[in-house]
Amino acid sequence: MTLQPIYSETTIKTRIAELAATLDERFSNRPPPHIIGVLKGGFVFVSDLIRAMSVPVTVDFIRVSSYGAHMQSSGSPQLLELPTVELKNRDVVIVEDIVETGLTLRTIRASLLIRKPRSLTSVTLLAKPSQHQVDVSIDLVGFNIDKEYVVGYGLDANERYRDLPYLAILETPQS
Ligand code: IMP
Ligand code: MG
Repeated sequence: MTLQPIYSETTIKTRIAELAATLDERFSNRPPPHIIGVLKGGFVFVSDLIRAMSVPVTVDFIRVSSYGAHMQSSGSPQLLELPTVELKNRDVVIVEDIVETGLTLRTIRASLLIRKPRSLTSVTLLAKPSQHQVDVSIDLVGFNIDKEYVVGYGLDANERYRDLPYLAILETPQS
């Protein structure tokens, strides 16, 4: 396994500042939006994104089962941990690490829409548009990438590499 860096700490920081500015604009003069991070991969991105934003926010996390220890999508994600606060009439923002097939994000959106938020915005640090299998609404994307497997900055391969401050392609010997 070798790591091929694709986005440096500085590049990520610059892009997050842009995403934060867009969100600030969207939620200025509104009650604080409720940020819902998707564990585990989204935890680093959420913590940097909320600190780059100027508007006040509230924060929550949900957990979704989908990949387990495998590097392939299982196709039937389930919400393992639900948001703890009332979402009715709130501006809700889902923060994902990466959208591949779109199945996870679609499941999350459907589960949250039942609670009648005022708005539901989806933000993802990374997206693999060529791998999308379902039509899912993503409002903001940090970086679009190809179908390669990426680790670092919260993203893992069998729980490793989440602590890298940058993003890298994980090259397996056969790829
Ligand atoms: P989807 O349901 O296929 O969109 O899968 C989304 C989830 O798969 C993400 O939240 C990640 O947990 C995982 N995933 C997909 N691609 C990658 C990758 O390149 N690196 C790390 N995790 C990934
Ligand atoms: Mg995820």
